Amino acid sequence: MKELLQYVYKRRSVRRYSEEKLTDEELAQVEEYLHQLRPLIPDIKVEFQIVPCNETNCKYNAEYCLLVYSEEKNLWLTNVGYMVEQWDLYLASLDIGVCWYGMGKVAEERQCDLRYAIMLCFGKCDPSVFRNGDYDFSRDDAADFWSGMSDARLGEIVRLAPSAVNSQPWRVDQVENKFNVYRQKGKVPILSNQLFKHWNKVDMGIFLCYMDIALESEGYIYSRTLGTESDEGKRVLVATYTLDDK
Ligand SMILES: Cc1cc2nc3c(=O)[nH]c(=O)nc-3n(C[C@H](O)[C@H](O)[C@H](O)COP(=O)(O)O)c2cc1C
Repeated sequence: MKELLQYVYKRRSVRRYSEEKLTDEELAQVEEYLHQLRPLIPDIKVEFQIVPCNETNCKYNAEYCLLVYSEEKNLWLTNVGYMVEQWDLYLASLDIGVCWYGMGKVAEERQCDLRYAIMLCFGKCDPSVFRNGDYDFSRDDAADFWSGMSDARLGEIVRLAPSAVNSQPWRVDQVENKFNVYRQKGKVPILSNQLFKHWNKVDMGIFLCYMDIALESEGYIYSRTLGTESDEGKRVLVATYTLDDK
């Protein structure tokens, strides 16, 4: 995971693509990486399909869309966010643009035992669209969502995680070497509908992916227990981390 840290500072949502096509080799690399993603929950089955973007309802001029299907178990969307964010970051390493596309719809929501989770569009873009460092991010400060933070460096990394409509639904409460990660509901009240609930669960997986990249990059040994994807209550416990000494 820690090898992905450098792309945290590079990736951005790419909404304008060039006419240039991916080479066969690039497409093979992109597909191959899907098989290497680390799951958050290994026993949830996840499948991917790459289709031409113009066969979807995606409004961007990307060459392809990645359609993500998953078994519908507890934390299935969080697991999808966790896995696919690794792929998003990897594509930045290849100068291939990606945009999570929550507005995406598919004709068949179900495929056997799997349910459609989300799509992302991707394709070649002008490499100058990527970021060059930790500036040029519109994000909350870590202190706004993480109480009791013991290592500011972790906050500086995880605050850069992307989320639907940049809603940043995460909250972290730390006491000594233990911290809880919550999904805070209704932060963007105008959008607190079904779609938004769905996206925010994916967002939490993206956040846990950034958390693991940050912890591993900073040399922490840690353990994690997982909570739920429940819709009950204003704050939902998604994960608890315990840090061992470095
Ligand atoms: C789950 C999810 C769904 C998203 N859906 C859309 C979308 O439908 N359309 C879009 O243009 N951007 C979408 N985005 C991109 C976000 O708006 C973007 O990640 C956020 O504003 C932060 O900007 P950045 O990715 O450039 O850092 C989505 C992002 C996530 C994580």
